[in-house]
Amino acid sequence: MKSRLLPACLALSLAAPALQAADPVAAGKAAFQRCANCHQVGPGARSNFGPQLNGILGRRAGSAADFDYSPALKKAGFVWNEKNLAAFLRDPDEVVPGNKMRFWGLRSERQIADLLAYLRAHPAAPAGAR
Ligand code: HEC
Repeated sequence: MKSRLLPACLALSLAAPALQAADPVAAGKAAFQRCANCHQVGPGARSNFGPQLNGILGRRAGSAADFDYSPALKKAGFVWNEKNLAAFLRDPDEVVPGNKMRFWGLRSERQIADLLAYLRAHPAAPAGAR
């Protein structure tokens, strides 16, 4: 029993594909409505209340040229990857204490996985509108 439970827990914590929607990018687009008041992605995305998020995976934290970041995010000094971005979406203050993103955090691992798929589909030089 122990050996069967462990992989299941691992799969959950890694947001395995089995956890995702049939079309995670589309599901992520819907989930992104919660971010869209403050963030833009896609061609022509600009920073507004929050920084634009094209190419956020692989981008240095606090580095969008057209956004005035909090000191906390400016000196965070890491590059966003799936792991720290998922953690940030769960609890922004835990990952970057003192940041100024006013967001409670997402409880749903599925929504986080879908959002990551959506953001992954928006590289720094957008391949096309979505
Ligand atoms: C109420 C507005 C608001 C909402 C809603 C919001 N954010 Fe943010 N977000 C911000 C602000 C403002 C910052 C910059 C924080 C700072 O400078 O400390 C930020 C920063 C970020 C960053 C870091 C960007 C960078 O360039 O390092 C990511 C990633 C991010 N948000 C993702 C999201 C996602 C995904 C959602 C939706 C689940 C979301 N945010 C919801 C306002 C918001």
